[in-house]
Amino acid sequence: MEVKNVKGTKDLYGEEVTNFNYIEGVMSSVSSLFGFKEMRPPVLEHSEVFVRGVGEGSDVVRKEMYTFLDKGERSLTLRPEFTAGIMRLIVQNKLYATEPLPIKAFYMGPVFRYERPQLGRYRQFNQFGVECVGGSSLYHDVEVILLGYCILNTLGLENVTLKINTLGDDESRNNYRQALKDFFKDKIEGMCEDCKSRYEINPLRILDCKVPEDQEIVKDAPKMMNYLSLESKQRFDQVLGQLEMLNIPFEVDDNLVRGLDYYSETVFEFHYTSKKGVNYGAIGAGGHYDKLIAEFGGPELPGVGFSFGIERVASILKDDELNIPDENVMISILPMKAEYNSQAAQFALSLRLNGYSAEVNYDGGKVASMIKRAVRIGAKVALIIGEDEVKNGTIVVKNLESGEQQNVELNKLNEALDAILQKDECDDPNCGCHEHEDDECCHEHHHHDGECCHHQNKDK
Ligand code: HAM
Repeated sequence: MEVKNVKGTKDLYGEEVTNFNYIEGVMSSVSSLFGFKEMRPPVLEHSEVFVRGVGEGSDVVRKEMYTFLDKGERSLTLRPEFTAGIMRLIVQNKLYATEPLPIKAFYMGPVFRYERPQLGRYRQFNQFGVECVGGSSLYHDVEVILLGYCILNTLGLENVTLKINTLGDDESRNNYRQALKDFFKDKIEGMCEDCKSRYEINPLRILDCKVPEDQEIVKDAPKMMNYLSLESKQRFDQVLGQLEMLNIPFEVDDNLVRGLDYYSETVFEFHYTSKKGVNYGAIGAGGHYDKLIAEFGGPELPGVGFSFGIERVASILKDDELNIPDENVMISILPMKAEYNSQAAQFALSLRLNGYSAEVNYDGGKVASMIKRAVRIGAKVALIIGEDEVKNGTIVVKNLESGEQQNVELNKLNEALDAILQKDECDDPNCGCHEHEDDECCHEHHHHDGECCHHQNKDK
């Protein structure tokens, strides 16, 4: 019997892993620039963490969790998101008392939701996110949104729409919930089954319904803005004002309510349409919360965060043909006889110690097929060790892109390699990269308005 992967999961290999590494690298380094540090909560948590954290009214908890009893009869859940687990971690380890506030964490890894698999929707997918916990200023909301925006910008995503709304404080939401109940009271019978249960559990979620007939009804529903307390209204206006100051474009969307129960005040989503017009929906989302830390037994500390869906971001980079650095080995060493393998191994080691990535073709074969393989693995240079070379203390350096080759004395090898391997890095004249002068450069991937990329994965 052929064993296949589980429905809704995805094998990642080759270029896709390179893309993931690149995306996670950019996301973490930009987050570090904002003062965030990585946390790694476990994938497995007691189910209670999400029931309490994400909320019993959410679809995630009601329908989508991978929950099971372990051999000790404990109810465990594969995390369907990170935020609740991070709150549990902060409270259990009393970080709110031992660490300077606010605590700023970023995280990444797989999450699991039993959803209907479709384009951009998996049952195991990966998130990268941040949480800023314990800062009372509304500027933390703005800073977190700015961080999300900078990450997408650094990745070169140009068609991002930031949708933003406020869910107000408890008082505002209670009043609004009642207004929605009154409005939908005589309409709910004709609406979808999901809306009927949302009406009972959390009428705000009706605004998020995707059924076209229901959306028609939703259009005339009361607006949150009219039920906001004065404090919540002023807070939201200040957040929007600050986003304007920072030149972050946004759209206020008063139907944006988010699917998880913990939010209050600011909520937001980053939406994306690729250059070819493919609508990816929300590629990342988040918002402010007031009660999560207290929910886990800690003090009443507010927080704000977001998570990106890495699969969606990776598809966009591919779709929009954005440059991604390659992780291919640079040099392939080709010993023409097995007896040169040992020498080749030593060569490879000294090249690696000099910062070049190198591999050896120990399995021999015809020179043409060895070169063909070197090209296929993405190497830029082949170093050929043949009988004459061993005798004369030289090596053949073959540029696999141009096809040119030359016989080089071993003490001139580094020079020859430098000439080939660093030639076409960062040739964008607008690039603000400062490393041109000393001939070392970043991979050039995403230059915006003459600003340079992240100096990641430097060749050499
Ligand atoms: P979320 O909106 O449930 O928020 O998920 C965040 C992102 O994960 C979505 O915008 C989407 O890109 C991606 N995503 C969600 N479901 C799937 C799926 N089935 N397949 C692929 N990608 C998916 C949260 O998880 C919150 N914890 C965000 C947050 C952090 N709020 C405050 N802090």
